[in-house]
Amino acid sequence: MKKIIVSAPGKLMLLGEHAVVYNKPCLVTAVDQRLRLTIEVLNIQEFQLDAPDVDTVNYKKQIVGIGKGNIPKGAKFVEFAIKNFLDRTPLTPFIRGIKITTKSEFSSRFGFGSSSASVVCVIKAMSELFNLNLSPKEIFDLSYKTVLDVQGAGSGFDVAAAVYGGTNYFIKGGKTIEPLTINQLPLIVGYSGVKADTVTLMSEVKEKANKYPKIIEGIYSSIEELVEFAKVKLLANDLRSFGELMNINQGYLNALGVSNNKLADMIYASRIAGAYGAKLSGAGGGDCIIAIAPEEKRISVEKAIQQAGGEVIKVKTNAKGVKIE
Ligand code: MEV
Repeated sequence: MKKIIVSAPGKLMLLGEHAVVYNKPCLVTAVDQRLRLTIEVLNIQEFQLDAPDVDTVNYKKQIVGIGKGNIPKGAKFVEFAIKNFLDRTPLTPFIRGIKITTKSEFSSRFGFGSSSASVVCVIKAMSELFNLNLSPKEIFDLSYKTVLDVQGAGSGFDVAAAVYGGTNYFIKGGKTIEPLTINQLPLIVGYSGVKADTVTLMSEVKEKANKYPKIIEGIYSSIEELVEFAKVKLLANDLRSFGELMNINQGYLNALGVSNNKLADMIYASRIAGAYGAKLSGAGGGDCIIAIAPEEKRISVEKAIQQAGGEVIKVKTNAKGVKIE
């Protein structure tokens, strides 16, 4: 039986979250903790899924029922990815059914984008299985459609990180995906211990924008300006300025209402311990903070994050995008 293994990296938002949902640019990096997916051909007309990291074991369904009925949370992204792929390219007499197994090097609670990484892996693996050789942009488009089908909103920055890897300047829906040639970033990641609900946070920000449209639009535009500026600073390897811009971005995220005490404690602790800058990364409300610090301050920043109640997660930036293993 044919078997293919693919892997895709997790991601961290560097700058520009939330504003990116409203067509402003963001900067995102792929991290070296990966999600691995195995696809096997079945000779029965079934879709089978084992994704223990998201509490889905021994999930089975008739191929005709894919995307229909009550789909458990842990199966949704993978099942809709298969559905969208099969709507484009139907099964053949040689590929009657498929079994998928996923295993992640990182917890789905970190906010590293395990759902998007699993969708991207499905599309890449199916493309390989059917000898389609889909381009990265085709993989991005089908994966982004899948994410929107499941969660209704989102910019697709996490999908871009999983497909392309590296560090990218990104605009919603892949209107721009510009790889930035930069060094490994001296990034320190602190996990808050709380899982953020991206969809809820996005809708809270939307409510705020409905109530105070001019003010929130002003914040998005300021974030846009700082992202443009930060991109230049990053390309010039001016990490001190980049860190200062992270701090400003954190101020705007605070104004949007997505920071909280735990995140703020870790952020201030990092700055006091010598980081150039620190901010929440992603939707807010939980997940992780990121700090950029000179190498000689790394240990004190890590300790400060731990003392503030966070868990330090070791990652390297600029990881490779989706690939066949
Ligand atoms: C969530 O990690 C980042 C948001 O900007 C949502 C998105 O871009 O899809 C809040």
